[in-house]
Amino acid sequence: MPNIQVNLDMSYFNKPYLPMLNNEERFNVVWGGAGSGKSHFVVQKIILKALKYPNRTILFTRKVQATIKDSIFQLAIDELNKMGILHLCDVSYYALTIKFPNGSRIFGKGLDDSEKIKSIAGIDDIVIEEATELSQDDFSQLNLRLRSKAPNQQIHLMFNPVSKLNWVYAHFFDRGTPDSTLIVHTTYKDNRFLPKEYIASLESYRVTNPLYYQIYVLGGWGITGKRVLDNWHVQQFDKNELMRKQLCYCFFQILRGELR
Ligand SMILES: Nc1ncnc2c1ncn2[C@@H]1O[C@H](COP(=O)(O)OP(=O)(O)OP(=O)(O)O)[C@@H](O)[C@H]1O
Ligand SMILES: [Mg+2]
Repeated sequence: MPNIQVNLDMSYFNKPYLPMLNNEERFNVVWGGAGSGKSHFVVQKIILKALKYPNRTILFTRKVQATIKDSIFQLAIDELNKMGILHLCDVSYYALTIKFPNGSRIFGKGLDDSEKIKSIAGIDDIVIEEATELSQDDFSQLNLRLRSKAPNQQIHLMFNPVSKLNWVYAHFFDRGTPDSTLIVHTTYKDNRFLPKEYIASLESYRVTNPLYYQIYVLGGWGITGKRVLDNWHVQQFDKNELMRKQLCYCFFQILRGELR
């Protein structure tokens, strides 16, 4: 069975993710702000696992089947292209499958129908994009399906910390880190590949949307209890000055073609 060799320097990856590149923990939690490189890293790692272990079967999943093709599946195609090995793989956008010459395969399946999960068998790795969209039961069912004889079986969960009321908080954070779990937290500052326009648009949330700023820029828990934000204080402000800042900001957005 033909093996593919790819030689990647460690500088290929964003540094904060390196502890997760060759680890053995079953549960891999990658959380934080938007654009921090979570999906890129997990896809890179999974491709390397598919190449390392022949006949590996890898499930890419998220709650809604229709969202897989344009997100995590497309990312894998782009990454294979960047690695220069896409032409060696057999890709079906219709079936959401990527077959490698060594018999490994990635396939995408949504969890919109809970019965779908029970029909999944023989999986060696699971990648869950936007894990907060799943229910705890979806997650438990997936975990039950990961029971092949292959070495180093892992589940990767990615998400932005929208709310502490979500099951991921109770499961992975509230009572300390569970057994066999590696957690990596990142924000856009950890992603050296980001375009500066994107960084500026993220930073603009500081003024325009404090909740988004907390979740997607700082990578902190958004809804932390009954109150939406804990991190607030009472302060005098000049309404006209705030309006002026907001108008200037909109004006620059229009100039940059970001607002119509
Ligand atoms: N090798 C790379 N690693 C990480 N990011 C990259 C890389 N190459 C390009 N990027 C840029 O970083 C952006 C964000 O990466 P990615 O989608 O992996 O972040 P994310 O943390 O999954 O974001 P989100 O929280 O919104 O899902 C990409 O859209 C792309 O512009
Ligand atoms: Mg992502």
